[in-house]
Amino acid sequence: MPPRDAVMVADAPARDPRAAGVPKIELVGASKTFYVRGQEVTALQPVDLTVGDQEFVALVGPSGCGKSTTLNLVAGLLRPSRGEVLYDGVPVTALNRRVGYITQKDTLLPWRTAAANIGVALELQSRAVPRAEAQERVAQLIDLVGLRGFENHYPAELSGGMRKRVALARTLIYEPECLLMDEPFGALDAQLKLLMQDQLQQLVHQRRMTVLFVTHDLGEAIALADRVIVFSARPGRIRAVRDVALPRPRDVFKMRFTEGFGRLHEELWDELKDEVAKGVDV
Ligand SMILES: Nc1ncnc2c1ncn2[C@@H]1O[C@H](COP(=O)(O)OP(=O)(O)OP(=O)(O)O)[C@@H](O)[C@H]1O
Ligand SMILES: [Mg+2]
Repeated sequence: MPPRDAVMVADAPARDPRAAGVPKIELVGASKTFYVRGQEVTALQPVDLTVGDQEFVALVGPSGCGKSTTLNLVAGLLRPSRGEVLYDGVPVTALNRRVGYITQKDTLLPWRTAAANIGVALELQSRAVPRAEAQERVAQLIDLVGLRGFENHYPAELSGGMRKRVALARTLIYEPECLLMDEPFGALDAQLKLLMQDQLQQLVHQRRMTVLFVTHDLGEAIALADRVIVFSARPGRIRAVRDVALPRPRDVFKMRFTEGFGRLHEELWDELKDEVAKGVDV
């Protein structure tokens, strides 16, 4: 882990980040190998991947194929074994504070209520946010993620899906320009998942955010993304990339029944199913 006060090292930018065409996120031949008790585990083969400014890219692939590893590389929590990871054209060499990261495992503070977990960022900021403003911002996010009435519950008193929603709100309070999301809605029931997808797409549009989103749910990937990337079984590499040319704003509830959605789902599933079969070692 990098030191807590690490910042992204701004070496002389390779390119002007505002110049058209510089991707928000770029992996250039980035690979990752772990060494665990003398054993080598290749999580990711060299991957070339870009996410444009305000683009929504979904990553799908079998368990263990390196999806979380990819997000950890972009967040600056891991260094690539080979290749480079760039953010706004600058190599990520320390913790990337420009992204909001919703990790696969939620990391709520058990001794704080839902509201106090969501507001923690406002307390940590060097310029303290006035109490009334902080309360107002927390209340707005509680509403946004549908947790009104549970503000004063502790994490142990919330369901898995509710905890995920607290984690989402806690990240959104930073107002990040880019979100890394690792199966954020995986634990939610089918209906709530659709509602959250709908709210997320509105929010991403309003705040003009860039998103790199990991999911096991192909339907979710198509509903939300501009582009879907299918990873192969471990060691992960890019097996297929498809643009989702479905018009926006999208109706996440109804679009599943359209022809365009069905066709793309079938096409992507054809790519994914072989990889999923490889991943389960039958
Ligand atoms: N910190 C680590 N140390 C050692 N090995 C790791 C570490 N992180 C991941 N791995 C290994 O790298 C591979 C890829 O892991 P990763 O968590 O990226 O997979 P994933 O695609 O996110 O899987 P899932 O869908 O199950 O979350 C796995 O074999 C895993 O055991
Ligand atoms: Mg994972």
